[in-house]
Amino acid sequence: MSLAIGVDVGGTKIAAGVVDEQGQIVAQLRRPTPASDTARTAELIAKMAKDLAAEHGATTIGIGAAGFVDQERANVIFAPNLAWRNEPLQQIVEAATGLPTVVENDANAAGWAEARFGAAKDAHSAVVLTIGTGIGGAIIQDDKLVRGSNGFAGELGHFIIRPDGRRCGCGLRGCWERYGSGSALVHEARELAGIDPNLGQRMLELAHDDVQQITGLHVTMAAQEGDPAALDCFSTLGEWIGRGMAVIAAVLDPEVFVLAGGVSEAGDLLSAPVNKSFRKLLTARKYRREPELRMAVMGNQAGMIGAADLSRVGVQA
Ligand code: BGC
Ligand code: NA
Ligand code: ZN
Repeated sequence: MSLAIGVDVGGTKIAAGVVDEQGQIVAQLRRPTPASDTARTAELIAKMAKDLAAEHGATTIGIGAAGFVDQERANVIFAPNLAWRNEPLQQIVEAATGLPTVVENDANAAGWAEARFGAAKDAHSAVVLTIGTGIGGAIIQDDKLVRGSNGFAGELGHFIIRPDGRRCGCGLRGCWERYGSGSALVHEARELAGIDPNLGQRMLELAHDDVQQITGLHVTMAAQEGDPAALDCFSTLGEWIGRGMAVIAAVLDPEVFVLAGGVSEAGDLLSAPVNKSFRKLLTARKYRREPELRMAVMGNQAGMIGAADLSRVGVQA
């Protein structure tokens, strides 16, 4: 049984695990991400992977990172929401561990895990959307991950859904992730509660009466209690997500969409408005098999499992 290391590098924590060929985690470690210090982050990734490999005899390393990763699966070229610029992550980790290492986009890694072991394992084509701080995408066609000519395919958070809209970390305006992400949900809730504290009362209560302290979790909690303002924020978010999905369906015509990432844990609160707007805007609806909408099943370990799997020799060669 061959074992691989998967590392998921987030803004707040690094999770590394030893993963078997069936996508089962054998052991894992978690550490806080050194704040905006890319050199120390790379060192820590290498150390965690090295320790796990020494103890469990893993033979390859896969790293999922939230940014634009090159075709060689070696360097994080650019990260809209993090400090990475032309970061030679593969070289650093290989030098420190002596093990063959691949770098993957975080959402590609998580989406790959859902496609191979999770919500879309029966489908040959799927689009997996990781809804968190931003929107990450993974495109699977004919059971393969689509990478594009730069390696940048699946950067779905950055197609422009609203010309001249909100500024984005990528330097453009009006990107989908500024409207359809967890940050957008919080933006909406704070705006609503700021303008109408009466309507936003429940969310404000949860945030100790400080608009700027309202989090995605507060919005979800209030919505679960049936609070109209929080439900309204979810329906606005869902509408934007569904709108973007209709664009993607016109381009790729996948069998399945999977909603993943922290915000997808809201379940029906999210999927109901997403479904509604997506179905309404889906082109040629009467004449096609409609893509199914499913929720992710691999939880927050998807990135680790997918990165490990993608590091194996021969996987989707
Ligand atoms: C980044 C992607 C990443 C996604 C989710 C986006 O802002 O451009 O590379 O996959 O966020 O983390
Ligand atoms: Na991606
Ligand atoms: Zn953008």
